[in-house]
Amino acid sequence: MLEVSPSDHRAVCRLDEIPDGGAIAAEIDSSTGGFSLILLRRGEQVFAYHNECPHAGRRLDWSPGKFLVKDGAVICAAHGATFDIASGAALGGPCRSGLAALPVQVRDGVVVLP
Ligand code: FES
Repeated sequence: MLEVSPSDHRAVCRLDEIPDGGAIAAEIDSSTGGFSLILLRRGEQVFAYHNECPHAGRRLDWSPGKFLVKDGAVICAAHGATFDIASGAALGGPCRSGLAALPVQVRDGVVVLP
C-alpha cells in the first residue's frame, strides 16, 4: 500500500494497486475510528464506496480486500445483493438501497480523496 506523508494525507493508494476491472479495499483513518472503502477500477477511472452493504451492514468482501466483481457489478458476499460499479445503484438481490459513494480523483497515478 502507498506510504502517505502528512503533506498528502488524502492519498488512498496508487492507481496501479487496483487491478483494472477489479477492486481492492482501503482502510481509512478518521477521527471517529476509521472506515473501509471499496475501490473499483475501470481503466483510468476509480469508483469508491463505503465497504458496507446497505442490506444488513456487512462488508462487501468475502475475505478482506477480495470482492466479487462481474459484468459491471459488485456482488455483496453476504447475501448476493448486486450494485452497479459506476453508480453504486442497487441492481438486484435483497437490497433496495445503493452503496454510499465517496468522490475520489486520480492525480498523477495516485487515488486521492478531494
Ligand atoms: S448484507 Fe449484503 S446482501 Fe445482505
